[in-house]
Amino acid sequence: MSTVFIGGGNMARCLIGGLISSGTPATQIAVSEPFANARTALERDFGCRAFASNTDAAATGATWVLAVKPQVMDSVLRELAPLAGQSEPLVISIAAGVTRGRIQAALPQARVVRAMPNTPALIGAGVTGLNAGDDVSLLERERTTALFASAGAVAWVDDEALMDAVTAVSGSGPAYFFLLMEAMIDAAIAQGLPADVAGTLVLNTALGAARMAHNGEASPALLRERVTSPGGTTAAALKTFLDGGFAALTASAIEAATRRGRELAGG
Ligand SMILES: NC(=O)c1ccc[n+]([C@@H]2O[C@H](COP(=O)([O-])OP(=O)(O)OC[C@H]3O[C@@H](n4cnc5c(N)ncnc54)[C@H](OP(=O)(O)O)[C@@H]3O)[C@@H](O)[C@H]2O)c1
Repeated sequence: MSTVFIGGGNMARCLIGGLISSGTPATQIAVSEPFANARTALERDFGCRAFASNTDAAATGATWVLAVKPQVMDSVLRELAPLAGQSEPLVISIAAGVTRGRIQAALPQARVVRAMPNTPALIGAGVTGLNAGDDVSLLERERTTALFASAGAVAWVDDEALMDAVTAVSGSGPAYFFLLMEAMIDAAIAQGLPADVAGTLVLNTALGAARMAHNGEASPALLRERVTSPGGTTAAALKTFLDGGFAALTASAIEAATRRGRELAGG
């Protein structure tokens, strides 16, 4: 039985690549994709089977990964509904803001997992938030974890309402770090550094800091304290950030993204 991707865009390609590099035979992966050129590229790049028809692809397996944009989700669900009645699939949706309830209403015989990956998944450095109903078995959860683990880290949340917060933190989160990088590059140039030097300094500082924080030896707060000598340069900058309301601004930004996610999901 194949793992079936409905939609063969960026995210599907990244997950298919991850599955193959973690040992799934390409012959056990099917994908549906409306554009002939994209189908040819999927078959050429991965050796998986690419179908023009969603139902033809879905007929090859009982794990369906819905990797289409949210705006086409309803028409895709209508197409797949008759087949879901026969194959009772595990359906994993990565579409932003589409609730499990909406999928379950269209495919009552399916077990549904909702996933929120982020763009660094495209380079194997993503993180995916996952949520499933009680009807999804432990084995199915493990299979879902394995699917997304090939694109980075994985975190399960019990309450689907928290998926809006997941979206706000890690789904949208790369953009917050990019914004900080942009602002630091502009500030470095304002201090007289050439643009290429500013870029080298900022991007490598971001990478180094992320790697130190990620290795888990110390919390971000402790790492920050360790590099902040009293009365020094770092302390001067951090005081300016904190006096300017950095923590409250970050909390408001994430709250705004959570609220917007809820609105988009119709909640
Ligand atoms: N990229 C991210 O970082 C990210 C993060 C979290 C969640 N997501 C979610 O992941 C989903 C896919 O995102 P993506 O970045 O991979 O988008 P994408 O590259 O646009 O992929 C969507 C694919 O679905 C195809 N498609 C369109 N209509 C279809 C239909 N009726 N049946 C089957 N396939 C159809 C598209 O083909 P055409 O190009 O021909 O239209 C395209 O190849 C979205 O719902 C998005 O919200 C993405």
